[in-house]
Amino acid sequence: MTLAQKIAQHKDRLGSRLCILAHHYQSDAVVRHADILGDSLELARRIDGLGAEHIVFCGVHFMAETAAILARPEQKVHIPDINASCVMAEMAPAPLVEKAIAALNRDGRRIIPLTYVNSSAAVKAACGSNGGSVCTSANAATMLRWALGEGDGVLFLPDANLGMNTARQLGLKNTEIKRLDVRGAGSLVTPASPGQRLFLWPGLCAIHAKFHADQIDALRSVHPGALVLVHPECAPEVVDAADGSGSTSYLIKAVGEAPAGSTIFVGTEWNLINRLKTRHPDKDVRPLRKALCSNMAKITEANLSRMLEGLETATPVRVEEHIARPARLALERMLTACK
Ligand code: 13P
Ligand code: SF4
Repeated sequence: MTLAQKIAQHKDRLGSRLCILAHHYQSDAVVRHADILGDSLELARRIDGLGAEHIVFCGVHFMAETAAILARPEQKVHIPDINASCVMAEMAPAPLVEKAIAALNRDGRRIIPLTYVNSSAAVKAACGSNGGSVCTSANAATMLRWALGEGDGVLFLPDANLGMNTARQLGLKNTEIKRLDVRGAGSLVTPASPGQRLFLWPGLCAIHAKFHADQIDALRSVHPGALVLVHPECAPEVVDAADGSGSTSYLIKAVGEAPAGSTIFVGTEWNLINRLKTRHPDKDVRPLRKALCSNMAKITEANLSRMLEGLETATPVRVEEHIARPARLALERMLTACK
């Protein structure tokens, strides 16, 4: 029996007790078993209406943790490989984030922490406890505008590129933005100078950091009519060189809406681009360069099948209630602001 047949058999056996969620960066081999496929925002939104007792999350750990925070107490969230982490999320350890929040607020100004969903539950909890919230790449502008209205400034973390690209979209000036120096265990984070109202954590996505503006300039000379679309985790100069930038859901929509016969270069994770290429045979969809998220790739048909086989006795992803409560508050602020 093939792995696909085994998975289908487990799905039949478990019926409505099981729901498999997958992020768009998962391989086709995994995605074909998913009941729900989405970007970070869509997947977080869908947790609330799920009736299944077991939610199997094919994505990286912070996504499964987010699902566990939003799920009902009797539901169990599982991930087929607990080691599927996110490099960017690991660049913001919670104790360091808490130290930075305290340092930025030391002079009595109220700095609101806003974390990209690509962060640990403990970081989301620190945001929730300090009046802040969470954003995804699909709602970063709405949430940054919200956070700027809540206090005297915003600490945006962990992705400096998404923070900078979103700030530019909202018209913030460079003089209003400061990139934090978090070396020395946070000892170099100082309260804001007058005029500064956005503080960027110096994190990035190693996958989206592989795209460069000169690659775009070079391809334009070979493909003068090509459309170039990138994810906002790319550096601001890459976003400037592209024709459009936006979240995973934006990229899917923009490729879908491009006229037949277009050549489209996409700067994001390769599995999504490969799927878009198959979905749109009338367009020439190409990666800006092949960039695979090795952590997303840790989820395979083999470990999904194993997970389903031992589901009844598997240890689910759990977030302790003292962390889950403030993290849920931060997530609910986002889900309310972006209904
Ligand atoms: P989305 O928020 O667009 O789903 O992206 C998640 C992610 O990890 C991008 O690298
Ligand atoms: Fe994290 Fe980048 Fe992988 Fe997304 S693509 S999960 S941000 S390492």
